[in-house]
Amino acid sequence: MNFNRKSFQILTSFLLLCLSLGSNSATAAGNVTDFHALLDFKNQIVEDPFHIMSLWNDSISHCNWTGITCNISNGRVMYLNLSSQGLAGTVTPSIGNLTFLTRLNLLSNSFYGEFPQEVGRLLRLQRLNIDYNNFGGRIPSNLSRCTELTGLSAGANNFTGTIPTWIGNLSSLVGISLSVNNLHGSIPHEIGSLSSLTFFGLYGNYLSGTIPSSIYNISSIFYFTVAQNNLDGNIPANIGFTLPNLQVFAGGVNSFTGTIPASLLNASKLEVIDFAINGLTGTLPRNIGILNRLTRLNFEDNRLGTERADGLSFLDSLVNCTVLETIGLGGNNFGGKLPRSITNFSKQLRTFSIGSNGIQGNIPVGISNLDNMAKLGLEGNRLTGIVPDELGMLQNLIELYLNGNKFSGRIPSSIGNLSSLTKLFLEENNFEGTIPASLAKCQKLLTLSLYSNNLSGTIPKEVISTSSLSIYLDVSHNALSGTLPYEVGKLVNLGKLVLSENNFSGVIPSSLGSCTILEQLHLQGNHFEGNIPQTLENLKVLQDIDLSHNNLSGKIPEFLGDFKVLRHLNLSYNDFEGEIPKNGIFKNASSISIYGNKKLCGGVPELKLPACTIKKASLQRKVLALKVVIPVALLIFLLFLSCFIIFSCMIKRSRNGRSMSTATNNLELEISYSEIAKCTGGFSQDNLIGSGSFGSVYKGTLSSDGSIVAVKVLNLEQRGASRSFIDECEVLRSIRHRNLLKIITAISSLDHQGNEFKALVFEFMSNGSLEDWLHPTNTLQYQTKTLTFIRRLNIAIDVACALEYLHHSCETSIVHCDIKPSNVLLDNDMVAHVGDFGLATFLFQESSNVSRQSHRSANLKGSIGYIPPGIFLTSLVLNFKLHS
Ligand SMILES: *[C@@H]1O[C@H](CO)[C@@H](O)[C@H](O)[C@H]1NC(C)=O
Ligand SMILES: *[C@@H]1O[C@H](CO)[C@@H](O)[C@H](O)[C@H]1NC(C)=O
Ligand SMILES: *[C@@H]1O[C@H](CO)[C@@H](O)[C@H](O)[C@H]1NC(C)=O
Ligand SMILES: *[C@@H]1O[C@H](CO)[C@@H](O)[C@H](O)[C@H]1NC(C)=O
Ligand SMILES: *[C@@H]1O[C@H](CO)[C@@H](O)[C@H](O)[C@H]1NC(C)=O
Ligand SMILES: *[C@@H]1O[C@H](CO)[C@@H](O)[C@H](O)[C@H]1NC(C)=O
Ligand SMILES: *[C@@H]1O[C@H](CO)[C@@H](O)[C@H](O)[C@H]1NC(C)=O
Ligand SMILES: *[C@@H]1O[C@H](CO)[C@@H](O)[C@H](O)[C@H]1NC(C)=O
Ligand SMILES: *[C@@H]1O[C@H](CO)[C@@H](O)[C@H](O)[C@H]1NC(C)=O
Ligand SMILES: *[C@@H]1O[C@H](CO)[C@@H](O)[C@H](O)[C@H]1NC(C)=O
Repeated sequence: MNFNRKSFQILTSFLLLCLSLGSNSATAAGNVTDFHALLDFKNQIVEDPFHIMSLWNDSISHCNWTGITCNISNGRVMYLNLSSQGLAGTVTPSIGNLTFLTRLNLLSNSFYGEFPQEVGRLLRLQRLNIDYNNFGGRIPSNLSRCTELTGLSAGANNFTGTIPTWIGNLSSLVGISLSVNNLHGSIPHEIGSLSSLTFFGLYGNYLSGTIPSSIYNISSIFYFTVAQNNLDGNIPANIGFTLPNLQVFAGGVNSFTGTIPASLLNASKLEVIDFAINGLTGTLPRNIGILNRLTRLNFEDNRLGTERADGLSFLDSLVNCTVLETIGLGGNNFGGKLPRSITNFSKQLRTFSIGSNGIQGNIPVGISNLDNMAKLGLEGNRLTGIVPDELGMLQNLIELYLNGNKFSGRIPSSIGNLSSLTKLFLEENNFEGTIPASLAKCQKLLTLSLYSNNLSGTIPKEVISTSSLSIYLDVSHNALSGTLPYEVGKLVNLGKLVLSENNFSGVIPSSLGSCTILEQLHLQGNHFEGNIPQTLENLKVLQDIDLSHNNLSGKIPEFLGDFKVLRHLNLSYNDFEGEIPKNGIFKNASSISIYGNKKLCGGVPELKLPACTIKKASLQRKVLALKVVIPVALLIFLLFLSCFIIFSCMIKRSRNGRSMSTATNNLELEISYSEIAKCTGGFSQDNLIGSGSFGSVYKGTLSSDGSIVAVKVLNLEQRGASRSFIDECEVLRSIRHRNLLKIITAISSLDHQGNEFKALVFEFMSNGSLEDWLHPTNTLQYQTKTLTFIRRLNIAIDVACALEYLHHSCETSIVHCDIKPSNVLLDNDMVAHVGDFGLATFLFQESSNVSRQSHRSANLKGSIGYIPPGIFLTSLVLNFKLHS
């Protein structure tokens, strides 16, 4: 036996020697092979924005090409590193000829197709990093032959199928990341034999079943994330002993059940524990604070807690976690009072979210100690008492959720000191008194929600002129009175205005017509009177209008029929009169409501209103006239005859008119194409202001109101353009912010040749893109376009605000993925607007458990949900681990 093994070893070393001798002798030819393989690689590249591939030319040795490193002793390619070069194309099978390759790094490009099986010929390959590409198909099975692999990183691609069992044979693996792909099936237990594994990342797939216990025995693992899959089962009771090196432990958005093991306290290096959105029961270990390196502790949306009075006593121990930044405990069953100890939490604390529990009592005195706090979520509990003035000292607060409690007293005017606040939710409490005018000092406010309280008095004109308000302003279901201030016209960024069920009176100010991106307008249940102002015809993107239960009068304006995206119009219980328009939304009786207006007539037959009498009366008058005329004289017979002829002509013309208008209605889609074609001078080169991979952008003037717009016409032949269009519409529909490019409309139709045509119409940015300013294309421009330091700073701040908003303030976080100077546009006042969302992605997009999310009560707004772990960490950690 022993002898056999020894002779086997001798034999293998001999063979290896022969092999290496063989390859050494082949070296001279080997560099030629490498050269041709690299040329093949180059030939498959179809997009190369930085012209890297043109540097791969004969003028220098391939060993000196960008991204290539050769081994000095044998002249063979050792490293191929083309990370973040914007390259797109497939990877050539010739890659398998680079037989001395040890590191292949294509991180963050747009490579697609299957990864070639020839990778199995790279027997010396140690690190493969293809994170952030579009590779599809299965993970190439021949990779199993690359037994030297220490790092395999293929996250954020489109790999399908299951995780291959042979991964267990790559016994040198130190790190493996297959996060954010389309992998199905269970996690193979063979992975448990990778005894050197430190980094284990499978988050964001469709994996199911339980995690094999063998994996929990790899004691070297420090990074463990399986979040956002369909996994179930318990967290093993002894995990803290079998994985004592854990630093990151994340399993959010799965179906894990059972309790949180107390043994976790033994894993003393833990920094992140995130098991949000699962079915865990029990509670947190009382001395969880022993883990004093914790930065994030997130168990939101589980079934933890028992509503018991001492249910939050574990919070006391967290005072020892001096670097804690995030605590997420919302959406559980915790009861009892908020302990005073929370006021001694880490000064680093940025997020404290404990909404949607059964927590009682007051906000503890001393909360202002937490002065780094950015997000405080106490919503949906049973908290009582007044909101302390000291809340106004949390200078860094960005989002404040106190809604759905039983707070009483006045809204503290000190909230006006929170100059960074973007979202303020105070609805569904018992607040009384007036709305503090000081709220207007929150100059970054995007959302202000005060509905369902007992607020009275007028709405301060300072507050209603907070022009940063972009998402919504809702003060409905209070006892507010007085007129709607003229300053409402300053809400030029607002999407939704809700003033319903109050005692507002007076006329609707004509200035409301300045709120041109309003999508929803709810004024019902007040005492508004007078006409609908003509200026509202500017509110072309309104989708939902409710003016019911007021005292409005006059005619229903025709322009409402011209609103292309209007879906609901409620004008019931007012005093409107005259004929109902017949165009646009008025064609569809089920989209409009006009009950309780006694003086209306006409409209489509489904409305069953009396026909308008005006025409009939004039007809009767004519008949009467005839009756008088006939007896007077036969002489006037001629006149009568001509009257008759004129009359019949009129009927004919009106009939013609009607058939013409139905014809135009049928052509609505084509009209929008024609309009776009017309306003851009037939897509003339003179109006071309830019072009990119997804299409061209033209300047145009809309004939309807003379406004100047930018029209982005998508090049549908381009791979992915159609998807990009849908994505962009989707993104733009859900967001709005002063530093984001505003979309006016989207067009999806046929052109005159019957081809598909898609375009987005944006506000025109008169100062062009930041790219034009930074890199002017000719000297003339260079002279005129200079950016002062202050301007540059302002632009940077604008872009940062936009990104901050996209990442943290949207319902789902949005990653733009394509921030560059050419996508930063400057308006007349040099305010920067971020545009081009064609590549943007929603961070929560792929979650298989989104439905569970949407079950959550409307109260649960302050929740942080689950925070996706970074994929980039893989490469950082791997580099770090392997170098050290
Ligand atoms: C390969 O190496 C030989 C000898 O070192 C050299 O003469 C030749 O130019 C190299 N060929 C390429 C393509 O680099
Ligand atoms: C790669 O190697 C294969 C097999 O050895 C050979 O047929 C092919 O021509 C090589 N490709 C290049 C580009 O040299
Ligand atoms: C060839 O590559 C060199 C640098 O590697 C570069 O300076 C040169 O411009 C390239 N030639 C062409 C024709 O692109
Ligand atoms: C690469 O370039 C350096 C100088 O830039 C030169 O010394 C070296 O010989 C070149 N290597 C090869 C393999 O051509
Ligand atoms: C370079 O090649 C030689 C001979 O094949 C090998 O022994 C050495 O380890 C290689 N160097 C590196 C840094 O890979
Ligand atoms: C790969 O290239 C990128 C960009 O050129 C560079 O930042 C990175 O450090 C390189 N990585 C390695 C491992 O050489
Ligand atoms: C894949 O590996 C098998 C042996 O494991 C080999 O026969 C086959 O040629 C390899 N395929 C490629 C494309 O290299
Ligand atoms: C990912 O792969 C699936 C199935 O292979 C395919 O239907 C889908 O279009 C791909 N997604 C992307 C973004 O390429
Ligand atoms: C993996 O290793 C097992 C046991 O050593 C062996 O039976 C199996 O064939 C290997 N699989 C591959 C794909 O190399
Ligand atoms: C905090 O740590 C100290 C020692 O560093 C310890 O005495 C104390 O009991 C800890 N407090 C909690 C609540 O765990």
